[in-house]
Amino acid sequence: MSFKLSRRAFVASAALIPIACSKPGSARKPAESDKSDRDIVNPLVKNRADAQIFRHDDGFYYMTGSVPEYDRLVLRRAKTLGGLTDAEERVLWRHEDTGPMSGFLWAPELHLIDGRWIVYFAAGPSGGGEDVFRIRTYAVVCDGDDPMKGNWTVLGEFKGPWDSFNLDSTVFHHRGTRFFAWAQREPGIDTNSNIYIAPMASALTLAAEPVRLSVPTLDWEIRGFKVNEAQAILERNGKLFMTYSASATDDRYCLGLLTADADANIMDASSWTKSQQPVFQTSVETSVYGPGHNSFTVDEKGRDILVYHGRDYKEIEGDPLFNPDRHTRVQRLYFDEDGNPDFGVPVGNGPLPDRFEAAGSAGTFLAHDGAELIAGSAPLPQTQFRSTPEKGGAVRISPISMRDQHLIAAEDGSLSIGAATQAGSDMFRHVTGPEEETVRIESLAYPGKAIAMGENGLALVELGDRTTVWRVS
Ligand code: AHR
Repeated sequence: MSFKLSRRAFVASAALIPIACSKPGSARKPAESDKSDRDIVNPLVKNRADAQIFRHDDGFYYMTGSVPEYDRLVLRRAKTLGGLTDAEERVLWRHEDTGPMSGFLWAPELHLIDGRWIVYFAAGPSGGGEDVFRIRTYAVVCDGDDPMKGNWTVLGEFKGPWDSFNLDSTVFHHRGTRFFAWAQREPGIDTNSNIYIAPMASALTLAAEPVRLSVPTLDWEIRGFKVNEAQAILERNGKLFMTYSASATDDRYCLGLLTADADANIMDASSWTKSQQPVFQTSVETSVYGPGHNSFTVDEKGRDILVYHGRDYKEIEGDPLFNPDRHTRVQRLYFDEDGNPDFGVPVGNGPLPDRFEAAGSAGTFLAHDGAELIAGSAPLPQTQFRSTPEKGGAVRISPISMRDQHLIAAEDGSLSIGAATQAGSDMFRHVTGPEEETVRIESLAYPGKAIAMGENGLALVELGDRTTVWRVS
């Protein structure tokens, strides 16, 4: 009788048993939805895990990811990030009837390699039992310059350093060299998977011996199973950041971070520093569990976006690997004063939140400390507010971690966070500010009055006052 082994349980037990720069393309005129970035509502795409989203130089967003059935490679395309939600999804390739690619298909990624569209993915054989987790990395290739229209055929198998469990490959460029990054089980190391990089000689071969960048050893990396996987790379502020995912794929799944100077020799493992704490993890307050397997993209304004999957509940029946509710989510990615990414917390379901910085006081954000509304500098999650649309252009504004509490205006001009006791006291509207990306927040309970950061702190004052202007980020 075939039984569902968790691949990690299997791999752990096996340890005991000695186991996209665009070719000049035709102008694209697909009927993509053109939702604005204001239409982004999380989850962006339901039941798609391990999402890769990127904005290609044809101006379109491309998205692929694992489907719950793990039986096919899919791709969708939209003019806007928000448009991916209901964009047409095409099946590029289905697992084979028999053989090494007839079982699970995991974590596809679309890349443009020497003018050819290639999708890398992990696959295993079918047939049940322990063999279904004999997972290796393969690629399919498109015969045309439009990945949504061409024919896809098998290119081959990744030639890695060992014949062992390997997955979650990605391709990145650094100082003119194309690199492959992947997760693999290394003979002699008692983990499920570690992180490796190497320069590429061709689409499926390496030009040098790989370097091992990370092994799961910290407590938050080995919860359930010893896993480092799902690398994603971002170069910003003179540094190279590599996120990866760790631990079991339930609520313990989280992001780690490796950082290197962008001018360093990235093939020297000592160039990389590992964060000793996870940088992104389950948030009970915003009800996102097991955030991970991320990628990076930018929104229509060129602002960095973190892409990841996560469930909106904690308790899972059965093996988390076969739970379909790892949904694709996105949120703004900010950076601290040292140029390092500040991942904050997963922001939760609903419209993307905003930060409101006093236009006349850089670094002074609308924030909260518990139920107290404040203005100043505060940890990122305390400066993120979700404006939920209501009737007639009104919005109710809530801290992301207090979704049932709202900004409340009082007759004396004071502001608080809580449940509205007077009808309409929690209704506001965004009024376009005097400059790009600025806004005023007018109370609908006291029309003509708006939230201001004045000498005496936060208060409702005349709408036209300069202290009512907030820079939205
Ligand atoms: O979602 C299937 C696999 O499980 C992915 O390849 C891996 O990142 C995840 O843990």
